[in-house]
Amino acid sequence: MLLRILCLCLLIVNPVDLSNIEQEQITRLKCSDLLVGQYRCQHPTIDESTQEPRGCKRYNYTWNDEVKFVDMAPIQCYTAPGIVCDGGVYNDTLDGYVFERNTSCRWTNGKYYRTTLALSLFLGVFGIDRLYLGYYVTGLLKLFTCGFMLVGALVDFLLIALQVLTPADGSHYIIDYYGPRLLWTEFNETRTYLKPQHY
Ligand SMILES: *[C@@H]1O[C@H](CO)[C@@H](O)[C@H](O)[C@H]1NC(C)=O
Ligand SMILES: *[C@@H]1O[C@H](CO)[C@@H](O)[C@H](O)[C@H]1NC(C)=O
Ligand SMILES: *[C@@H]1O[C@H](CO)[C@@H](O)[C@H](O)[C@H]1NC(C)=O
Ligand SMILES: *[C@@H]1O[C@H](CO)[C@@H](O)[C@H](O)[C@H]1NC(C)=O
Repeated sequence: MLLRILCLCLLIVNPVDLSNIEQEQITRLKCSDLLVGQYRCQHPTIDESTQEPRGCKRYNYTWNDEVKFVDMAPIQCYTAPGIVCDGGVYNDTLDGYVFERNTSCRWTNGKYYRTTLALSLFLGVFGIDRLYLGYYVTGLLKLFTCGFMLVGALVDFLLIALQVLTPADGSHYIIDYYGPRLLWTEFNETRTYLKPQHY
């Protein structure tokens, strides 16, 4: 209220300048440029079939002449009370502007961790685990050498169990969202939601 009166006074003193500045600031602030604390994000919806945030995709980009990949999924975010931004839709219930942001995810391509582990345990000597993951040459070699005299089969089983050996196409294993997946701890100040604990 006090601020409003102050603004009004300033407006009367110098109406043209101030309104110009305000106009600029309002139109310039994009929802995607909001700072931490100015918005909140809803927890991503988990896709049943991939066990990843819905809409998880792999994007490629070139950096220093190298093709790099990044996996991202859209999530819904909304502004904190009193924050106005461009590119959002006002929602009464949330009392804020709803917009989309990207969240990191793991791109999967239909290869299940549990299936791979079971194939490796029971059919590893025939190289079926390698064939399932898409390593056709080593898979066939394993088949014709009885899993490299069993040693290769054992090594592969360990590598798969440790999630060192992953699908040949570079995708991630499908693992229950709250299951035994390997997580690399990362701190990124732009993350504004926490994965809930379910154990
Ligand atoms: C990068 O993405 C584009 C478009 O999605 C695709 O056509 C291209 O093959 C991709 N490049 C690589 C190296 O995967
Ligand atoms: C506003 O948000 C609530 C909660 O997310 C949602 O249920 C509702 O459909 C939204 N309303 C509009 C008009 O988008
Ligand atoms: C998410 O990232 C992709 C790839 O960089 C981009 O095409 C897309 O527009 C982004 N979406 C949002 C909501 O920022
Ligand atoms: C944090 O995430 C944002 C958006 O995904 C990215 O632009 C930025 O480089 C990340 N920062 C770090 C320290 O990884």
